Amino acid sequence: MRVAMIGTGYVGLVSGACFADFGHEVTCVDKDPSKIERLERGEIPIFEPGLEDLVASNVRGGRLSFALDGAEAIRTADAVFIAVGTPSRRGDGHADLSYVHAAAEEIAGLIEGFTVVVTKSTVPVGTGDEIERIIRERRPDADFAVVSNPEFLREGAAIEDFKRPDRVVVGTEDARAQEVMRELYRPLNLNETPILFTGRRTSELIKYAANAFLAMKITFINEMADLCENVGADVQQVARGIGLDKRIGSKFLHAGPGYGGSCFPKDTLALVRTATDAGAPVRLIETTVQINDDRKKAMAARVAKALGGDLKGKTVALLGLTFKPNTDDMRDAPSLDVAPALMAMGATVQAFDPEGMHEAARMLDGVVFRDGPYDAVEGADAVVILTEWDQFRALDLDRVKLLLKQPVMVDLRNVYRPDDMRARGFRYSSIGRA
Ligand code: UDX
Repeated sequence: MRVAMIGTGYVGLVSGACFADFGHEVTCVDKDPSKIERLERGEIPIFEPGLEDLVASNVRGGRLSFALDGAEAIRTADAVFIAVGTPSRRGDGHADLSYVHAAAEEIAGLIEGFTVVVTKSTVPVGTGDEIERIIRERRPDADFAVVSNPEFLREGAAIEDFKRPDRVVVGTEDARAQEVMRELYRPLNLNETPILFTGRRTSELIKYAANAFLAMKITFINEMADLCENVGADVQQVARGIGLDKRIGSKFLHAGPGYGGSCFPKDTLALVRTATDAGAPVRLIETTVQINDDRKKAMAARVAKALGGDLKGKTVALLGLTFKPNTDDMRDAPSLDVAPALMAMGATVQAFDPEGMHEAARMLDGVVFRDGPYDAVEGADAVVILTEWDQFRALDLDRVKLLLKQPVMVDLRNVYRPDDMRARGFRYSSIGRA
């Protein structure tokens, strides 16, 4: 099959490379000349394990190419994917659909023969109808179907998630479009991976419902963690104890400093707006959004508490700045709340992140960036683990203790064990473990 992928951001690039790896002929299109130039040189604009090799091997195999002008690719495509950004609109939290609509306009002018137009971007319910209207208005004669096919991949595990998903959701009632989508995903072994055909609006909502549910699940365990601290219980055992119940499931029950990233904060907010507008407010999610925002802001106070309440003149080492490990993505990362709050309380912040420092330097004024974890810890009054990168799980703790002014660790990701840390002489605090 021939695929045109519009947008070479996270989802577009990963999906494009994976479809090419499935054996399809894929052209990834982007309006940004510097991005296309870099991609053509084999440089990947984002950090994602395995992506560079996957892109390189498919470019070499002649199945993957990049283009600034998508005309040729769109004209000849069996399926045109829209994978452009849908950021939160300033002011009202609705998803900004201007890039999606611009892509629809472009596609309208170009398609030839039966073409499936697929939204991979996370778009509010009804966007497929709007895309269909835009194309139909410009090209009353065109033969096309608009399909919703949300992507559920996680940063840091994107290729694995794309190639071995729990399910593929395809929103269309058009039989020809269903056939094209089945063919595109055929290499997944559809016996093992269910492909769920739904109505288009339903599919659009599934994506938001999935992200909102996961955000809610994390927020639930975060609140249980606070409760555990007050009643002398252990949140990790609570998570295991409830997670073994198959109706609940063990994933996404890891308590921490609050969720961040490019999806959960944006999509929960957009769902709240959509639901309010539709006259069916989702109060559980409204509350989830509020709790999570408050939680990220409250993390700095834990550090102050660990240092006796006053941060004036103190130095705090932050290990990890990205919203999760194995990404360089800083969007809505807890560090963006924690570092400024620590500095506002009078602390000097010195930080290290394995991949996120470049981006962090643009976003975190006043933070002193260090070259490695031990550099960051040197001379600090406390070390805070903010992102659970593997290299922070295996720190030389004796060395950390020697480098610190006082042996204080605030572990916001529960990477270490309280009894072990105490035995090593640390004043250790973590999340939800009394
Ligand atoms: C998420 C969804 O998982 C994915 O399906 C969707 O397509 C995009 O959004 P992503 O944002 O890449 O993916 O990361 P994810 O691993 O889901 O983590 C999101 C945030 O939740 C991170 O800040 C992470 O630290 C936090 N989290 C996750 C927890 O605090 N506890 C958990 O148990 C799981």
